[in-house]
Amino acid sequence: MTKSRIIGTGSNAPERVLDNHYFAERMDTSDEWIVQRTGIRERRMAEVGQKWSDFMLPACNKALEDAGIEASELDMIVVGTQTADTMMPSGGCTLQSLLGAKNAAAFDVTAACSGFIYGLNVADRFIKADPSMKVLVVGGEQISQRIDWDNRNTAVLFGDGGGAAVLVASDSEERGILATTMGSNGDLGHLLHVPGGGSAKPRRSDDYDQVLETIHMDGRSIFKNALKAMESACVKVLCDCGVTKEDISLVIPHQANLRIIEGLAGRLDIDMDRVFVNVERYGNTSAGTIPLALDEALRGGRISEGDLVLLTVFGGGLTWGAVLIKW
Ligand code: COA
Repeated sequence: MTKSRIIGTGSNAPERVLDNHYFAERMDTSDEWIVQRTGIRERRMAEVGQKWSDFMLPACNKALEDAGIEASELDMIVVGTQTADTMMPSGGCTLQSLLGAKNAAAFDVTAACSGFIYGLNVADRFIKADPSMKVLVVGGEQISQRIDWDNRNTAVLFGDGGGAAVLVASDSEERGILATTMGSNGDLGHLLHVPGGGSAKPRRSDDYDQVLETIHMDGRSIFKNALKAMESACVKVLCDCGVTKEDISLVIPHQANLRIIEGLAGRLDIDMDRVFVNVERYGNTSAGTIPLALDEALRGGRISEGDLVLLTVFGGGLTWGAVLIKW
């Protein structure tokens, strides 16, 4: 069966850098606490007036340039985001217009941090069904919009940024996406959620408070669930392909917390030198973490032709997934 393959990537983030001291000056936290508990040292945050598409469009253009194709050649744009410029049109349609991708169907997938991995799954299935398709998969957030700046439990964890990848049918039977998996557990949705702004808590209600539109999280429970779900997703795609952990060249896990990443590496019994980490510079960019990390890994020479690369993610929903790629 046809395999899909990533032929170009790009990433970008707003230029404004906020280090941990910025937060320590504004709330009861410290650089030491944030580094020890999360590994995060700084993150990028959009300026007031800057929009999601202002930094996501350059990421898409870089991916197209890297792939050597024109926007007009795209058949589909799939975007993982919850923080696009507008609720309607979707982030996909906004990017389609800005790119001039007039032949592409465009839409968003709402899977929180898992949006890019869900998007890769969608692209892979469409390309298998129609190998002539060229698909741009995007993941990125302006998550600073969803932060409660008075809550130290969440404010220090997140950042803005993201990336994109161009997928086409592989010209080889060996190279490309070998296996994918996705999962969800809506029963535990309350552990990581934005309670307001939807039909359950509409803005029109009398008791509406803006804080309802920020991320609410039970950090300890999310930590445990993230480890368990990413481990089982990784084991599933490895088993599906008969691949062992020794065969993996690089794991690119969701960048939410260095302790979660190290815990996952320990459970998979893979040394940290085969695990990509950039959480210290970006924090958790939600759907942006995987494409940002993948692009940095490629540009930094961490991935070569023939390498087996394992992507895995976890996020609100709850949602999770993994993708195994032969580069
Ligand atoms: N600065 C200082 N203290 C803080 C703090 C901060 N920024 N945030 C929380 N604390 C405090 C807590 O209030 C708590 O105090 P208490 O013991 O007096 O109640 C203490 O630190 C320890 O809290 P705890 O929740 O046990 O810390 P932790 O080691 O679990 O780390 C997280 C907290 C949020 C960093 C961690 O649970 C985590 O990363 N969870 C997953 C987050 C995630 O991945 N989210 C997105 C998924 S896509």
